[in-house]
Amino acid sequence: MSLVTTKEMFAKAYEGHYSIGAFNVDDIDIMQGVLDGAASVNAPVIIAVSEGAYKFMRPDFVVAAARAAAENYDIPVALHLDHGKDMGIIKNCVDIGFTSVMIDASAYDFEENIRITKEVVEYAHAKGVVVESELGAIAGIEDDIVVDDKYGQFTHPDDAVEFVKRTGIDSLAIAIGTAHGAYKFKPGQKPQLRFDILEEIQERLPGFPLVLHGASSVPQDRLEIFNQYGGQLPAAIGIPTDMLREASEKAVCKINVGTDIRVCYFGEIRRQMALKPEKFDGRSFLEPARNAVAEMVAKRITEVFGSNDKA
Ligand code: 13P
Ligand code: G3H
Ligand code: ZN
Repeated sequence: MSLVTTKEMFAKAYEGHYSIGAFNVDDIDIMQGVLDGAASVNAPVIIAVSEGAYKFMRPDFVVAAARAAAENYDIPVALHLDHGKDMGIIKNCVDIGFTSVMIDASAYDFEENIRITKEVVEYAHAKGVVVESELGAIAGIEDDIVVDDKYGQFTHPDDAVEFVKRTGIDSLAIAIGTAHGAYKFKPGQKPQLRFDILEEIQERLPGFPLVLHGASSVPQDRLEIFNQYGGQLPAAIGIPTDMLREASEKAVCKINVGTDIRVCYFGEIRRQMALKPEKFDGRSFLEPARNAVAEMVAKRITEVFGSNDKA
């Protein structure tokens, strides 16, 4: 199969009340781990490449590897630029074979976000590439945001409706309380997502696919391995899986996972290196790490997202 867009994946996910995992990859080994995991449970999957990963992996290599993956695995695979901010990079991704791009102009005001997003939509749609954009503040716990109304820093449903209509985007990343990274909540703070806002947006934009960023769950068994072998991510907690499942049953069609991949992959590498000090061939460390990624991806898909057996 060749690489596909997310159009059909999202339409089916919306109808079927599940979501598609978008997993951030930083190298080809991790990409293979993600694909092994998704293929093992027969799930469509999105390979997400941030601008940092695009530069690190090098654009042509990313596309070649993703194309090879799509041909080698019997599941739908989309190649997605995550958090695109640089217009040059976004347009290049469209040109060289990415099937989906995200424009993240959420740091700008509403009108400027619309203007920039529209420019990307025009460029991408002309070449059959789909576009995700972001509205609202997907905060970090350090961000001190003044909450002065019911919606606070979260995505306002009125804005969401106007934004989608005026930009022509294919999916929208919304802020309902998730945050990027290993620390999503202040110590002692109870994890909470604003399902009332999600439902309001869903009602106002029926059938329209929504996206959750900052949605890692930080599996504690994997975090323990990471910390036991010299890592220092004490007391990290993620989004509870039951909340992600609930979001998947609603209009959320894409769930982004980056932190879990990193904790899993590098935790396993740390362990392998500690347990095998006599080894110096990379494969003896990397193969178990790749398998750990595959296992985590398969588990997340089957236990939380529900996209298993939907390929
Ligand atoms: P996490 O840091 O929660 O994995 O979020 C990843 C993400 O949103 C990538 O766009
Ligand atoms: O949200 C983004 C991903 O986790 C990737 O992060 O920009 O450090 O590659 P990155
Ligand atoms: Zn993100």
